[in-house]
Amino acid sequence: MTSNVNIERKLTVRRMPFTFDDDIDIKWNAAKPEWSYMANGASLAMPYLEPYLIRTMKKALPLLNDNALIQEVRDYIGQEAQHYQQHRRFNDIIKSRGYDIIDELEQQMLSEYSIFEKEKSLKFNLAYAAGFESMALGVGHWLIKNRDYLFGTSDPRVASLILWHFVEEIEHKCTAFDTYQAIYGGYWHRLYGTFFATLHVMKFSRSGYIIMMKKDGAWGKLRHRLHIIKYNLLFITGVLPMLLHSALPNHHPTDIDDPQWSKDWIDLYKKNNAILAHLDTGNLTTPSGTGFTK
Ligand SMILES: [Fe+2]
Ligand SMILES: [Fe+2]
Repeated sequence: MTSNVNIERKLTVRRMPFTFDDDIDIKWNAAKPEWSYMANGASLAMPYLEPYLIRTMKKALPLLNDNALIQEVRDYIGQEAQHYQQHRRFNDIIKSRGYDIIDELEQQMLSEYSIFEKEKSLKFNLAYAAGFESMALGVGHWLIKNRDYLFGTSDPRVASLILWHFVEEIEHKCTAFDTYQAIYGGYWHRLYGTFFATLHVMKFSRSGYIIMMKKDGAWGKLRHRLHIIKYNLLFITGVLPMLLHSALPNHHPTDIDDPQWSKDWIDLYKKNNAILAHLDTGNLTTPSGTGFTK
């Protein structure tokens, strides 16, 4: 199979000047502490998930023939490396607040990904990568569509990290998909990978936020549990339509247009990346649809 990579798909590896200071509140969205815990739980998984994706794609590289796709995979690896390194910096802040049991979760993630690599085929691991990226594309659209609700007036240092990450997840939506298609191309494996990866990452994220909420005494309180259910329902109903689209046999990620906000973000990056590392969360929905500070 061949890919349809062209110059317009050139990925940019961005080194963002985020500042993760010690004064960041774990509940960085004070109005939505349960959402903060959920996003933190996902962040904890990134330094284990993304290095696994990188190792998987590195194994795929020698099997590719298309030079444009090979370059795109290299850039994808560069983007994912930036993602998990920046998340690790934020996770260090979380872990500094005394959530000791996170160490056990990290060991579990390390172990499960290591087992996949040792015991499963490259086809499985690439289907996982392509499947995870399908979910990440849906998550990116959901986050950006609901950016004001999810990030409005929250700590810009954390909001900017998450929105940067998912602008780039949208930007590299085709890379793992086309790599899987170029090397294997089987529909059922891809479908299995999509739902397996989605549930697998959600399992880790959930374990992470439960650890934090238990330690903070929030997990046992009905009000917080109801909010967790609400945010999970919003997440699932928001992401599922795109996930189901990606489950169609003839799906290609280019079928799904990128949100204008992520296009604006990419344009603005060329002028000023410092602004994007500290978004104005009080103004994420200006009439221009960008919400960036001047
Ligand atoms: Fe990523
Ligand atoms: Fe990704």
